[in-house]
Amino acid sequence: AHIDKGGHKHFMAKEIAEQPTVIGEALAHYIKGGDIVLPTQLDFARLDRIVMVACGTAFYACLTAKYWFEQVAGIPVEVDIASEFRYREPPIGPNTLAVFVSQSGETADTLAALRYCADKAQIAAVTNVDTSSIAREADVNLPIRAGAEIGVASTKAFTCQLTVLALTALKAAHARGRMDDDTLADHLAELQSLPGRLNHALGQADEIAAAARAVAEAQDVLFLGRGRMYPLALEGALKLKEISYIHAEGYASGELKHGPIALIDKTVPVIVMAPRDALFDKTVSNMQEVMARGGKVLLITDREGAAAAEEGTWRTLVMPECPALFEPILYALPAQLLAYHAAVAKGTDVDQPRNLAKSVTVE
Ligand code: G6P
Repeated sequence: AHIDKGGHKHFMAKEIAEQPTVIGEALAHYIKGGDIVLPTQLDFARLDRIVMVACGTAFYACLTAKYWFEQVAGIPVEVDIASEFRYREPPIGPNTLAVFVSQSGETADTLAALRYCADKAQIAAVTNVDTSSIAREADVNLPIRAGAEIGVASTKAFTCQLTVLALTALKAAHARGRMDDDTLADHLAELQSLPGRLNHALGQADEIAAAARAVAEAQDVLFLGRGRMYPLALEGALKLKEISYIHAEGYASGELKHGPIALIDKTVPVIVMAPRDALFDKTVSNMQEVMARGGKVLLITDREGAAAAEEGTWRTLVMPECPALFEPILYALPAQLLAYHAAVAKGTDVDQPRNLAKSVTVE
């Protein structure tokens, strides 16, 4: 079918805007009669480990899911980049679930990693293309239902991957007796509230665009996050470098002192993704370390976080309230919009960035 930009200037803008709808569709696909319906072959009870393998943005979706599977379902998770995993000959036991996440389902390294695990472990794929090699060669395929993604920089596929992985972690927690029916029902209601919250976040696009135009003047940008927000800091940096060609790095906030603080001066914006949570005060002290060195902090937080942060940030973007567990899905939007508007400000080819391919089918 012919796909157009639906009135948007770029496919990426359209795909960012579609997220409330496609996430709603992904949720509707898996949530039936108050339960999460996954292929019955997925036997969470006997698992002792999950191994997740992917490339690029899908790798960051896996890193986020590690927090969910470990904290909610109590299953140890290892996450690896496919090109590293495939050549290391990692030992894989029969009680391992190996999960391969790929928008296209055709990434050469991810497919090779899947083939390495064939006959050694239970294999699940999380893909956007049901007919793809990775979807077909897995024991079970969990479609992300994002619809065709045309922009080279992945946006809606990322948040749909997160949605499906969150559902899988909740299902695993319930199946392993770590979560009762009422708690599961509460979490499902929280997930179903996400499309509305995402729409509110999209409503702040103008403010985010203004911040992005300021960020676009920088040569180097640092993204910081802690806990569930750490993988998003990595993804925010990847998105910005992919399409605006601004050098960006993502770091765990607690690692600031172990290197990146040496780079801080007034020319380096530091984007801190930090909703108010149990670790927020630690993040505030990281921000103060940056500000004490003349660094410019762009804080992306919620209302409580904005009130609790000391004065002195360069800019603060206030996101809608969101249940803590699912904040990575919501905070993906400002990260995407920052990259998008920075790229537009720089006049780069947003949908077809130089040197990059949508799907890397050769090594
Ligand atoms: C390329 C794309 C990225 C994508 C990565 C993995 O680098 O430009 O947007 O995240 O491949 O692709 P996959 O289809 O396996 O998710």
